[in-house]
Amino acid sequence: MAELTMETLVSLCKQRGFVFQSSEIYGGLSSAWDYGPLGVELKNRIQRFWWREMTQLQDNIVGLDAAIMMHPRVWEASGHVESFTDPLVDCKSCKQRFREDLIPEDNLKNRTCPECGGPLTETRKFNLMFRTHIGPVENEGSIIYLRPETAQGIYVNYRNCMQSSRLKIPFGIAQVGKAFRNEIVTKNFIFRTCEFEQLEMQFFVKPGEDEKWFNFWREKRMEYYPKMGIRPSKLRWHRHGKDELAHYAKDAYDIQYEFPMGWRELEGVHNRTDYDLRRHGEYSGKDLSYLDEETRERYIPYIVETSAGLTRSVLMVLSDAYEEETLEGGEVRSVLRFHPLLAPITVGVFPLVKKDGLAEIARKVEEDLREEFTTFYDQSGSIGRRYRRQDEVGTPFCVTVDYETKENDTVTLRNRDSMEQLRVKTADLVSVIRKGIRDYRRPGL
Ligand code: GAP
Repeated sequence: MAELTMETLVSLCKQRGFVFQSSEIYGGLSSAWDYGPLGVELKNRIQRFWWREMTQLQDNIVGLDAAIMMHPRVWEASGHVESFTDPLVDCKSCKQRFREDLIPEDNLKNRTCPECGGPLTETRKFNLMFRTHIGPVENEGSIIYLRPETAQGIYVNYRNCMQSSRLKIPFGIAQVGKAFRNEIVTKNFIFRTCEFEQLEMQFFVKPGEDEKWFNFWREKRMEYYPKMGIRPSKLRWHRHGKDELAHYAKDAYDIQYEFPMGWRELEGVHNRTDYDLRRHGEYSGKDLSYLDEETRERYIPYIVETSAGLTRSVLMVLSDAYEEETLEGGEVRSVLRFHPLLAPITVGVFPLVKKDGLAEIARKVEEDLREEFTTFYDQSGSIGRRYRRQDEVGTPFCVTVDYETKENDTVTLRNRDSMEQLRVKTADLVSVIRKGIRDYRRPGL
């Protein structure tokens, strides 16, 4: 099987309607991407899968959707105004800008540009938060930031959620949403962008129990990815060294995935201690402590965070699903082996031919399946070509209406992975497909 390159993935995403360059007709905006008809379906499904796992299947986690714009003091309290920076240098000759930590060692030692050899400026701190103004007057007092993480919206709502939902520690708050960072290095497609989406869950625990819950969530999060069909061999842990730990973290592990450009971070699991609530308590003047009603103990909860990228997960799911398979006879089939719960289209429906009333029957079958699944009707081209088109976008099931359908009300149900075709009663289609989704196993796993 040929190795998947990022170039192949970018072009496949464009051709098949997953991801387009932002403002492409104007030459594109670097580091921003648009999700096309199939991309938005895939992204929404990944989000739903995470949400179900982290809220519906838990008995002590609630959801939240906080605003992107927040009071500017939030970002002072969180430490972002002071510390959310990258070290940058400029080349005095070619004027290119680099992140100091990504410059080859020799160039750094000689202070020379890795591109043209020209002299480099002194290093300066560059804050990654996007600043803008709220209201009609643009002055220091009207500055606000586009949030660089969703987590802070959870911390400032911790008391609201706890009181309104009558939560007792340990409990969690989950949120999905946009985040913005003025990233300097944004290559690798949708891996690192200036506008992206996060899937974050903050779990509030009693101090002293933080390590137990940290290990608990590490285990849970690693178990999660294979549930959505990701190959376990492509996942591994990376523990943060002392020099990598964020200013708030006592311990941190990344779940890394082997992307086409190599092993990279997909999700972080962090033990944030009581840093966040302590700081928000100090800066807001509000009491953010927790009273354990049974023991009468009062404390500032510790927070264990699971923080994954939604848009980065889209890249992972696409990279993981892509396969080229050589069939008997030498034909190469390109297929996206999405888990059926993530596939943008669940069922393709075709008439074998358009004539003799088959198209009308197929339309009716498709309409009935729509109630339960995302469907796609196609009557153009040879049946083999139609199957291939659905393989290429990862549709796990295809239903074909043929002449036998007219005789005994049965259709063929084709499986994307095995390419096997079963004869199924039209009336049983929904339950057979439902079972196929529930029992799905990726070949070889
Ligand atoms: N609240 C903690 C936090 O934001 P992070 O490690 O900076 O931690 C968490 O980000 C996740 O968000 C990352 O593992 C990654 O999946 C995603 N992420 C971060 N920056 C990103 C960017 N510029 N583009 C796309 N995804 C990003």
